[in-house]
Amino acid sequence: MNKTYYLTTPLYYVNDKPHIGHSYTNILCDTFSRFRRFKGEAVYFLTGTDEHGGKIEKIAKEKGQTPEAYVETIVPRFKDLWKQLGIEYDDFIRTTEERHKRVVGKVLIHLQAKGDIYKGSYKGWYCTPCESFWTALQLAEGKCPDCKRAVQKIEEDNFFFKLSNYQPWLVNHIKANPDFVHPASRKKEILSFLENPLEDLCISRPKNRLGWGIPFPGSSDHVVYVWFDALINYISAAGYGADDGKFSRLWPADLHVVGKDILRQHAVYWPIMLKSLDLAIPRKVLAHGWWTMEGAKVSKSLGNIVDPVEVIAEYGVDAYRYFLLHEVTLGFDGSYSEEALLERFTNDLANDLGNLVHRVFGMLGKYFEEKIPSPVEKDGIRNSLRKESLSVWPKVEAAMEEFDPRSALEAIWAFIRNSNKFVEDSKPWVLAKDPGKRGDLAAVMYTLFESLRLIAVFLHPFLPETSVKILKELNLPEMVSSTQASVWGLLEPGASVGKSEPLFPKEEEDPGA
Ligand code: MSP
Repeated sequence: MNKTYYLTTPLYYVNDKPHIGHSYTNILCDTFSRFRRFKGEAVYFLTGTDEHGGKIEKIAKEKGQTPEAYVETIVPRFKDLWKQLGIEYDDFIRTTEERHKRVVGKVLIHLQAKGDIYKGSYKGWYCTPCESFWTALQLAEGKCPDCKRAVQKIEEDNFFFKLSNYQPWLVNHIKANPDFVHPASRKKEILSFLENPLEDLCISRPKNRLGWGIPFPGSSDHVVYVWFDALINYISAAGYGADDGKFSRLWPADLHVVGKDILRQHAVYWPIMLKSLDLAIPRKVLAHGWWTMEGAKVSKSLGNIVDPVEVIAEYGVDAYRYFLLHEVTLGFDGSYSEEALLERFTNDLANDLGNLVHRVFGMLGKYFEEKIPSPVEKDGIRNSLRKESLSVWPKVEAAMEEFDPRSALEAIWAFIRNSNKFVEDSKPWVLAKDPGKRGDLAAVMYTLFESLRLIAVFLHPFLPETSVKILKELNLPEMVSSTQASVWGLLEPGASVGKSEPLFPKEEEDPGA
């Protein structure tokens, strides 16, 4: 049976509506997933929501609601945003679903039977927003070392998972599989974290302190720690213990995309949980950086939120996708500002791409009554662009192999800019004045239209809405595959094309301004 490429986003906490950081991960995964489907691969793309834990219990209480009722108000916000952003996922898992809770219980029973779980007493410091325990030594000036917020002193009985049993195995696994953690700088970080002995992981919370969680099997006083619960989603959604056929098609996951702040959970705790469960380890964990604004991480708790819904309303979905995919090299932090977005919108989208399409369609209307002309063999005229067009897709593929959508877009934009240059150099408006140059004009226009077709195809995984718009204007089916990205000459001479509307309309200038 063929393995399906299985990729996942983290499950987002539903303490508040989604922001730019969440949308970034989903846009990345959507692009990776579209890219592979485009090449004909079977893909399964999972996203969802993480609904238990202290954070959600706290906010629900503040709103005077039960956690159950509160999460129902937030989950649709995530689903609506994914719809607006054109995120084509195959499954959306919620940790409050029965299919997930059942698997969490099953996993814990398995681990208990293996002797990897024990009951102990915990004394130390606790950070509620991060849901993390800290020893006095780990605190940073008395605060949580991760989020720098106040911590509480606690002492309680809990269940622990023997991470330490598997530390040497994990270090060997990471060294033997150099592609497991990406990028390499993050792999180094994890290996250096693993140079110190791992403390066992506290995987329960006493109900009298935190009641909103999955009941801990065998204890009526505890619920499961939210991170332990949430990580299991990747197998519960894949059909573990419920649908063996599906599970064997999907598992191990090919790619977990996560933010750098949750890499340790995915590259240390999760593989150890799977090892203890006797399951295969995911092939790759890819950590991206943070979106910041004026130097600070964009976050719900800091309140410096960029609301994707507002940005999309102003600039459109594809401008937002383009900005996020293009602005940073994956793995690095990116700085968000509306000015930066506006600059990309104006220069790359409206000027380079929008104008090219509009102009080329306009000339066809004027010179060939909106019909694709026959490409008269005039190699001198059309060879440069034609030759270049065939080198674009291999560059895009090579960049995507490296999880580098920014370079992929750069390769496409180099071609777009050269197509504009081709218009300037070949001067169709001059050729049009000379009846003796009709053949040259036809060759130029055919070349330009083939370039537009290719651009629409190249853009498909990245800017799906724009891709479809251009294809429709060309009167071509919107279903495309990557085979169409590496051939020249698919446009039929004599075929009519539609009208072109501005792809990235600029806001009307305010006459009073
Ligand atoms: N619920 C956990 C994940 C469980 S996965 C089994 C969680 N949720 S979260 O909502 O706080 O964060 C989800 C993801 O959003 C993380 O990958 C995090 O890195 C990402 N981002 C949150 N703020 C971000 C930015 N400002 N920039 C980029 N991504 C950031 O953690």
